[in-house]
Amino acid sequence: MTDPVREQYELYPYPPRDPRDEAKRLIQGSPSHILEINHYVFGGRRDFTQPFRALIAGGGTGDGTIMLAQQLQDRHCPAEIVYLDLSEPSRGIAEARASARGLQSIRFVTGSLLELTAMRLGEFDYIDCCGVLHHLPDPAAGLAALRHVLSDSGGIGLMVYGAYGRTGVYHVQEVLRHLGHQDAPAAKLDLARRLLKQLPPTNWLQRNPFLGDHLKAGDAGIYDLLLRGIRDEYVDGLELDLRSPVGERRPERCCGRSGEARLPLDRCSDEPHRGARSPGRGGAGGGA
Ligand SMILES: C[S@@+](CC[C@H](N)C(=O)[O-])C[C@H]1O[C@@H](n2cnc3c(N)ncnc32)[C@H](O)[C@@H]1O
Repeated sequence: MTDPVREQYELYPYPPRDPRDEAKRLIQGSPSHILEINHYVFGGRRDFTQPFRALIAGGGTGDGTIMLAQQLQDRHCPAEIVYLDLSEPSRGIAEARASARGLQSIRFVTGSLLELTAMRLGEFDYIDCCGVLHHLPDPAAGLAALRHVLSDSGGIGLMVYGAYGRTGVYHVQEVLRHLGHQDAPAAKLDLARRLLKQLPPTNWLQRNPFLGDHLKAGDAGIYDLLLRGIRDEYVDGLELDLRSPVGERRPERCCGRSGEARLPLDRCSDEPHRGARSPGRGGAGGGA
């Protein structure tokens, strides 16, 4: 049976990125900015001249991978970054971006994060998982798989969709599900575009200024925001059980948009980061 998540991201790699843009800018933000990692995971004491291993789980078209690899390279860190994703076309875009920047420290792997243990990739000092766990039938099992390959002193940068930040999304998703649930992806997209044109200015989605993927991120943005089959939001990150499999609670080692912990990058960074929606990273809209 086809995996609908894989099918979606193979047809519509997300977020849409053009490797040629690497010559013009570096996309930076949260989770996984190097300053955020050092602050929240390592209490500001990490020495990035020492070896550092990071896993980008569900790396998509490469935003987190490219940002972190570039930041570590700039600090001359002997790093290894493992990019993992289900979608070959997404990986292709991420690889082209890395090659455009001459980044050598990235290992690209295609597969599911649920199979991490069997992949024998070793332990990681840091794991980025941005906009991925809510796609799984059992997000807690995904988190447990990540915890299994995290070193004892390491931490995770996590983003899951937030119910309140995505106000308006679920109304439109529901309408589209009723109207076109059996359609092929291209027909669903056509339906969504037609519906979007007819939404009144009072519609919740129209009035939510934090959501823009349906306006700016092409087919991939519309599909990701409005045509996913399931409700997938969290009221806060702690609904996703952040305890370890043995019951130890250590949310202080988590950072990212879904929880309380968030680095005010606009105050800490000496480098520019992405525009108005700071400090969120990619186009994975409505995180918190
Ligand atoms: C919304 S995109 C986010 C991409 C990237 N993390 C970012 O923030 O730009 C979700 C990605 O997770 C990947 N994905 C979903 N389920 C996965 C799984 N079980 N294992 C690995 N990747 C998965 C999809 O293929 C897709 O590229």
